[in-house]
Amino acid sequence: MAEAPPRHGGNVEQLARQLNCHPRRILDFSASLVPFGPPRSLRRALRRALNDHVIPYPDSSYQALREAIAQAHGLDPHWILPGNGAAELFTWAARDAHSLTNLLPTPGFADYQRALATWGAAGRSLPLRLHWGTGPQSWVEALAAPRTLQHLDPRHTALWITNPHNPTGQLWRRDGLEPLLHSHGLLVVDEAFLPLVPGGEKHSLIPLAPKFDNLVVIRSLTKLFAMAGLRLGYAVAAPARLERWRRWRDPWPVNGLAVRGGLAVLADSLWQQRVWRWLAREGPWLAQRLGRQCPSLQVHPGAANYRLLSCNHSLTPLQQSLARQGILVRDCRSFLGLDDHWLRIAVGKRRHNQRLVTAMAANLNHL
Ligand SMILES: Cc1ncc(COP(=O)(O)O)c(C=O)c1O
Repeated sequence: MAEAPPRHGGNVEQLARQLNCHPRRILDFSASLVPFGPPRSLRRALRRALNDHVIPYPDSSYQALREAIAQAHGLDPHWILPGNGAAELFTWAARDAHSLTNLLPTPGFADYQRALATWGAAGRSLPLRLHWGTGPQSWVEALAAPRTLQHLDPRHTALWITNPHNPTGQLWRRDGLEPLLHSHGLLVVDEAFLPLVPGGEKHSLIPLAPKFDNLVVIRSLTKLFAMAGLRLGYAVAAPARLERWRRWRDPWPVNGLAVRGGLAVLADSLWQQRVWRWLAREGPWLAQRLGRQCPSLQVHPGAANYRLLSCNHSLTPLQQSLARQGILVRDCRSFLGLDDHWLRIAVGKRRHNQRLVTAMAANLNHL
């Protein structure tokens, strides 16, 4: 039986088992985390937390963490709900959305489907064009078949937006998203990668949350601070909605170490600027080098810390050959609308990017 394509990146331990090597020897370009993290402030906070925050239950109101997040966005803490990663919060957004028609832009991140399936609901595909330009994009112009929407009453729909989009990396302009709040019953905006994008914050919908109670914005700390193993994200939405979610879920979804870690990284004022400088330098470098050394690949423009690649032949042999050399790239077959002609790669550190480009060029020459 053919093996199903992986539904997410970062399967480092699995590949290390296959290659019989230590997971640290795997170069992971399949999950898109800041490659030089986590910040020292996180390591220090966790060492201290091991003494004081393992034994007690966490504060189930997460007051300190909510205040720190609220302060970062200039909001009142009642508008914030921390979660066990963004993924946990999608489950509750889906609970609110399950009786509406859920519109999922495709190709798109598969976890929204998982969240909806939890409540017996399914998403309806909203195809995006597979060609786009550089810079912030217009939402309406990106739709491949806007007529799909014609027979729907938008008030009975929930639209799930990823900004920047995964896997394409398109950054949606705020002025293109804002009108959607006047029509759709619910707008769930996943801004997991937005804080990494230089100039990205001005396209966030968080400042609009106090004006629209049909808006849910979800953020993740796991990409920006390279702390996916700790699991920490948050939702920004109307207090009544967040209070409902709080009553549904278990009393301590965010553990004590994640709380202390979160407080430390949120206070790390220089980190985000360091990430912006790295991405502004490395993103274009990687795209240029790939274009030059791997001319059979099309490197699509993107604002996030990953790039989508396509080719006129299957890229599965390339992916498999890289895996044999301990290099993981993201198989795109689990993204509806993409096939084995597509791959997604994360932007890494310069020397790792160099190794990836060299390995890809050598492999493509031999295929
Ligand atoms: C677009 C997007 N949102 C959210 C997540 C999950 O974030 P978290 O680790 O905070 O659950 C991912 C993980 O790959 C993602 O790609």
